[in-house]
Amino acid sequence: MSDEIDTEVTQLFEGARKEGLSVIETAHDLHALGEAKVRVLGRKSALSSARSGLRGAPEEKRRSLGQLANAVQTELEAAVAAKQRGFEASERAARWDREAIDVTLPGDAPSLGSLHPLTQTVWEIVDIFIGLGFKVAEGPEVELAKYNFDALNTPAHHPARSPQDTFYIKEGEEEFVLRTQTSPMQIRVMESQEPPVYVVVPGRCYRRDVQDATHLSGFTQIEGLAVDEGITMGDLKGSLQLVAREIFGRDLDVRLRPHHFDFTEPSAELDVQCFACRGSGCRICKQEGWIEVLGCGMVHPYLLEWVGYDTHRYSGFAFGMGPERIAALAHGVADIRMFYENDLRFLNQFGGIR
Ligand code: DAH
Repeated sequence: MSDEIDTEVTQLFEGARKEGLSVIETAHDLHALGEAKVRVLGRKSALSSARSGLRGAPEEKRRSLGQLANAVQTELEAAVAAKQRGFEASERAARWDREAIDVTLPGDAPSLGSLHPLTQTVWEIVDIFIGLGFKVAEGPEVELAKYNFDALNTPAHHPARSPQDTFYIKEGEEEFVLRTQTSPMQIRVMESQEPPVYVVVPGRCYRRDVQDATHLSGFTQIEGLAVDEGITMGDLKGSLQLVAREIFGRDLDVRLRPHHFDFTEPSAELDVQCFACRGSGCRICKQEGWIEVLGCGMVHPYLLEWVGYDTHRYSGFAFGMGPERIAALAHGVADIRMFYENDLRFLNQFGGIR
């Protein structure tokens, strides 16, 4: 009787082993293998029910049958593990294939930003002056009316002072304006140092102008000032001629045309021969043959006295120009408002970081 049980239980384990191996064998993916594992090794498996038969086995057989049970279990577990490793390896290989990166493929080049065309123009002009030995200074956009007008010899009732032309920030005893020009920096620079002075001042200015193709209420200027012993009108013309030719073309003529500014005496406007028609007259120079580039003159002694310079010893020249106008001319832009519209179709035409 006990031998019968012995053989019966042994057969049950053998059956569980064979069936288990074939169930594991037919699992065709990781998921199916998981299910097979439960079926073959779980609580309701043939192995598990064969183990419960052990309880009825005679004492002396139990040990060897128990070892058989463990051996079957170990074999089935090993079969599951081997199969699982196989699946994982092929899945990994497939993923490597799928996710492989071909480093030899051309990449997507990130698009580089570039300097705004006006910034490019300002930097180009400032660079030319740096080459001539000038320093760069910057000053406040909210400026004392005293510096924007009085120190610059602007008469008390000059229309430029009117609130129709100038943005007043604070009225009363000490008046503040949005500077209408970079010229007040002439005073600030001279107040802060002794001659020699060679300085250019790029910066934003504001006027209550009605905006159109050639006027903006917020715009840029570049101021220049040279004060030293023995500075003459010849120095002014020579320096500015060099700069104008550098910007517009080396072989172009330059002329000074008499003008008036409160803070220079004598005053002039500097014209450069039209780079498009070379003087014969065209659309760009409005048939003039010449293009106005900047205002300039010999620094008025009034300014030198204001800052306490010795007017017998020192003289100077000054100039002011509008980069919007210069950039518009240089690039053939018909309306300077385009520089402030932030239209990428416009701006992208001036690409290129310098
Ligand atoms: N400040 C003048 C303007 O806004 C430009 C100017 C003219 C500046 C002559 C100067 C100068 O320094 O000498 O129209």
